[in-house]
Amino acid sequence: MVTGSAGFIGSHLAHALVQGGTTVVGVDRRDPATDPTAATNLAPLLGLPGYVHVTADLLSCAIDPLLIDADAIFHLAGIPGVRPSWGPQFGDYLASNVLAAHRVLEACTRIGVPRVIVASSSSVYGPTGGGASIETDRPQPASPYAVTKLAEEQLCLAYAARPGSPSVVALRYFTVYGPRQRSDMFTHRALQAALTGQPLRLYGDGHQRRDFTFIDDAVAATIAAAAAPAAHGPINVGGGATASLLEVINIANSLVGRDIQLDHDHARSGDVLTTRADPGRAREVLGWQPRVDLHNGLRAHMQALASQVPTYGRAA
Ligand code: NAD
Ligand code: UGA
Repeated sequence: MVTGSAGFIGSHLAHALVQGGTTVVGVDRRDPATDPTAATNLAPLLGLPGYVHVTADLLSCAIDPLLIDADAIFHLAGIPGVRPSWGPQFGDYLASNVLAAHRVLEACTRIGVPRVIVASSSSVYGPTGGGASIETDRPQPASPYAVTKLAEEQLCLAYAARPGSPSVVALRYFTVYGPRQRSDMFTHRALQAALTGQPLRLYGDGHQRRDFTFIDDAVAATIAAAAAPAAHGPINVGGGATASLLEVINIANSLVGRDIQLDHDHARSGDVLTTRADPGRAREVLGWQPRVDLHNGLRAHMQALASQVPTYGRAA
């Protein structure tokens, strides 16, 4: 089972699993019949033999029947995004990121699903001073979102330590980008601005650095986690190389041959200056290392955006 299968990472993961010959039940509360983003994300999947889609909310649906015969569950459903997690939406973050994981864990324990792979986040590290984050570092989440992801991850690992529960691999993804990336994320917005000529709102001075991870690499690490030995705690999914937002803007400019117009805005609470993974555990436990560098990844992301909406193509 893949939860969050109508989302950015979940839809790519489900597709790669089906392409590899695995039967996948995908669960998401966004309905492709009414939600255009879900429809776009699921377009490559719906109708494929080997893929069954279920529109359901993990906070209320009966999960057990969906899990019968499952060898593993990839639990990616959740509310992502650092900045909107301040204020009144926190309850939704808590529900979908923590309470939904609890319902999934209870169902897996009842049904006897052997393996849970859960989507955690680089945001659990908080401010780092610029060095590489290693999984044994003390987490210092700096946003309500990051607090919920740390709680989710730790809840899953606590269940894993209990006899009779599934084994768990928690993946701390580092800023994933590529085709179908969420439209609230920086890379999507920068490439969209480059293609359309619309301005890009830049929070802070653009010297923030991220360990950008291409979607295909994130998916490869996730699939490897299904078969990996589990007794290792969380695992970073990031290659250890960083780029600043200004560097991403420069690459986007070079891909379209003109400069993005910037609207400068203040830095946002909860955004950290740098994320950088120590990739040692992922290499050791998952046999994983990223294959796509930032330039090639951004080119692929831009090509996908340009082909998606006709006006992008015209502007490019
Ligand atoms: P996304 O929003 O594109 O996908 C998440 C999906 O989960 C959505 O389709 C949403 O409808 C679904 N969902 C949320 N609550 C649900 C519920 N209660 N029941 C059923 N479905 C529900 O986000 P994404 O970028 O693909 O992220 C996937 C996961 O990876 C999230 O858990 C996120 O916190 C984590 N993550 C993402 C990144 C990144 O760079 N994109 C980095 C670190 C961690
Ligand atoms: C991303 C995802 O959005 C989170 O869901 C995920 O948990 C996290 O990665 C992770 O690695 O764990 P973030 O790194 O904040 O979070 O990625 P973006 O949302 O793309 O933002 C990156 C930077 O760009 C931030 O400093 C942000 O302030 C800036 N930004 C974003 C802008 O300047 N303008 C925008 O329009 C959007």
